[in-house]
Amino acid sequence: MAGEQAIPTGLNKNEKNILSSPALLKYVMETSAYPNEHHQLKGLRHATVEKYASMSMMNVPVDEAQFLSMILKLMNAKNTLEIGVFTGYSLLSTALALPDDAKIVAIDQDREAYEFGLPFIRKAGVEHKIDFIQGDALSILNDLLNKGNEGTIDFVFVDADKKNYINYHETLMKLVKIGGVIAYDNTLWFGSVAFPGDVKFFNDDEDDSLMESIREHTKTLNNYLAKDARVESSLVSIGDGVTLCRRKY
Ligand SMILES: C[S@@+](CC[C@H](N)C(=O)[O-])C[C@H]1O[C@@H](n2cnc3c(N)ncnc32)[C@H](O)[C@@H]1O
Repeated sequence: MAGEQAIPTGLNKNEKNILSSPALLKYVMETSAYPNEHHQLKGLRHATVEKYASMSMMNVPVDEAQFLSMILKLMNAKNTLEIGVFTGYSLLSTALALPDDAKIVAIDQDREAYEFGLPFIRKAGVEHKIDFIQGDALSILNDLLNKGNEGTIDFVFVDADKKNYINYHETLMKLVKIGGVIAYDNTLWFGSVAFPGDVKFFNDDEDDSLMESIREHTKTLNNYLAKDARVESSLVSIGDGVTLCRRKY
């Protein structure tokens, strides 16, 4: 296809990370991220790879989880939301970062993957902080709003159903308190948002139309968030890109 550009080599499909230098990525992981990874997180990460093979890349990378954990601690978050749990790597990381009386409402349409990760959450002693709700994220967010949770949430991690991010944003702006933070994952989408032409995500015989459509949604989202006067935002190039939005008013 004319104008087609390959995703930079060096992006490891099994470990989603925007760093295109494998040596630098290895350095960051081995020097900083892996030595600080809680042993139950490490166990969950390995078990997820064993069971889910390439799907395990849905877990956030270790360095990104640690970055988000740092933000949670710096802002003294207590009441949080997670959209998109899978086997619970980011959820367990969040639960470990929050104080003992904190609450995380964790939403996913797939209970099975959450239950696969649950033994690791239990062994880490943080299950009591988690309220898992199975179902479609947008309708659950609207339920939370209708049940009087407006302006009560400190922090939200959004990592599901990329095409709905703008719809989530409008509801989350009501749920999050002023000064609260919404973090959107995958906002660089393998670096593809920066490429001018068509992008080839997979080999010739594989259909990459879903990846391409998420790329377009992600570009629209990034422009939308950058222009949203209600938030201060920062697109951080860690993992697959994470955009932090702090509600101003
Ligand atoms: C990328 S994974 C989440 C990974 C997780 N944050 C982690 O780091 O381990 C995305 C998850 O979103 C869930 N999901 C997708 N669409 C959804 C929707 N409309 N409502 C609720 N969950 C959804 C999928 O079932 C999947 O488990």
